[in-house]
Amino acid sequence: MKIAVIGTGYVGLSTGVGFASKGNEVICVDIDKKKVEQVNKGVSPIYEPLLSEHLKKVLKEKKLRATDNLHEAIGKSEIVFVSVGTPSKEDGSIDLKYIENVSKDIGRSLTNKGYKLIVVKSTVVPETTGKVVIPLLERYSGKKAGRDFGVCMNPEFLREGKAMEDFLNPDRIVIGGIDKKSGNILERLYENFDSKILRTDLKTAEMIKYASNAFLAIKISFSNEIGNVCKRLGIDVYDVMKGVGLDKRISPHFLRAGAGYGGSCFPKDVDALVRKAKDLKYEPRLLEEVQDLNRRQKVGMVDLLERKIGDLKGKEICVLGLAFKPDTDDIRGASSVEILSKLTEKGAKVRAYDPKAEGNTRRIFPDVDYTENVKDAIKGSDACLIVTEWEEFRKLEDKDFKKMRSKIIIEGRKILDPTKVTGFEGICW
Ligand code: UDX
Ligand code: UDX
Repeated sequence: MKIAVIGTGYVGLSTGVGFASKGNEVICVDIDKKKVEQVNKGVSPIYEPLLSEHLKKVLKEKKLRATDNLHEAIGKSEIVFVSVGTPSKEDGSIDLKYIENVSKDIGRSLTNKGYKLIVVKSTVVPETTGKVVIPLLERYSGKKAGRDFGVCMNPEFLREGKAMEDFLNPDRIVIGGIDKKSGNILERLYENFDSKILRTDLKTAEMIKYASNAFLAIKISFSNEIGNVCKRLGIDVYDVMKGVGLDKRISPHFLRAGAGYGGSCFPKDVDALVRKAKDLKYEPRLLEEVQDLNRRQKVGMVDLLERKIGDLKGKEICVLGLAFKPDTDDIRGASSVEILSKLTEKGAKVRAYDPKAEGNTRRIFPDVDYTENVKDAIKGSDACLIVTEWEEFRKLEDKDFKKMRSKIIIEGRKILDPTKVTGFEGICW
């Protein structure tokens, strides 16, 4: 099928490349000319290993190209995906300005071009497609949704670092449709995916995305809460969760306690769901407690550090890992951001190392001393905090910590091998 994907960010590019590798003809659209150029040259603007390989392949097969000309791309397509970003406003509510702009642009381009299907892929709070996107499409096209063009909401569940894998082998495909015809067209596009398809209305599809992310955030927070109690009892929460996760009803996934969840989705989506619930005059207390616990969890390592070494003023603290999780350079919502803020606020001298995320962190914390390797970060430090579970940290041994001024090591993610390193302490174990 002929597809246009508006917004070539993390989700848009994965979606475009994914559909192209399934044999469709894809045009990726972005207002950022530099991104368009990069994509056309086969350079992925984001660090996503498998995505780069697939991108080169589909470019070679001429199944994908990028442009900044939205009007032309829509004219040549049967299905138009909307995957522009949906950031948070100051108060945590969702900022729909990109969605609104693009809806107007698509509306303007829909005139006299036959029936097309518009699919919202961006994460939008329930009712957005029905109450914001469709009215704008109708107003700017002078056409009627359902009659002249179709509309679907098709949430993504892509994990960073695993975007291609998740796109090509999803646990489920959720298709929310304004009507049967719209849903049928999208279902045809997913025909050659080996995955369960769930058909719903628009707002149910929107809610499935939020409920999924909120549930995972709750699951992690639950482990963190139990972990905080375990810590006081001298119990390793990982042993506990191993026992808990064996229950099929619970499953072993997303039970890893530690320095809190980050990323571009969980924090933002929980915030947006809380705001939406409040707008509906409902107090989502469980979700609010999760937000609060996660905030505390992120800086829990600094609190523990202070309990161990007292005043941090002038102390040299080594931070290993800055990305919100391994195998990405992304620091959005990362625990490291809160940790670096708190450490610098308290007058500590911070030295940090991350194999990928240094550049992004430097933009927010230009005064931190970034090192090129673990060794230089650790050398001469009064304490070491491990914030991201990069594979290379797994290999650390006692001798690697020898050059510390005092051997205080706090793990925020369970990564060190106790048979190789002694005297370290975990945040929840
Ligand atoms: C996605 C989803 O869209 C978001 O709703 C979800 O919650 C997280 O994942 P992401 O791909 O990470 O967002 O966004 P981003 O990397 O910001 O990419 C959006 C792209 O859209 C950018 O390249 C931007 O230049 C482009 N854009 C934005 C347009 O082309 N037109 C616009 O009007 C606005
Ligand atoms: C998440 C969702 O998994 C994905 O479906 C959604 O569409 C986008 O958001 P992502 O943010 O890429 O994906 O990463 P994920 O692997 O889910 O981890 C998110 C955060 O939770 C990370 O900071 C990670 O360290 C943390 N986490 C995850 C835990 O603290 N414990 C766990 O057990 C799992």
